[in-house]
Amino acid sequence: MKKVTVEICCGTACYLLGSAKLLTLEEQLPEEWKEFVQIKALPCLNLCESAKLGAAPFVRLNQTEIMPEATMEKVLARIGKLVNRDDD
Ligand code: FES
Repeated sequence: MKKVTVEICCGTACYLLGSAKLLTLEEQLPEEWKEFVQIKALPCLNLCESAKLGAAPFVRLNQTEIMPEATMEKVLARIGKLVNRDDD
């Protein structure tokens, strides 16, 4: 399994549109993923100002991949792909 960093934007827009719920992500992780997934809450990532990037709430994965309109289901599915990827 690979390490995955999950950064949840907790700026006002993201928080109000769903990141408050995403802060319970750790409780939703399957036990076998937990040691590989690092979760951080961050202040506004300045993504909510650009309509091109989509809509809040935003989650950033592995410091580079932006997920707009993040939901618990979408984030868990993406983490599953990233922890199980076999590239290097
Ligand atoms: S509040 Fe999340 S990107 Fe601004």
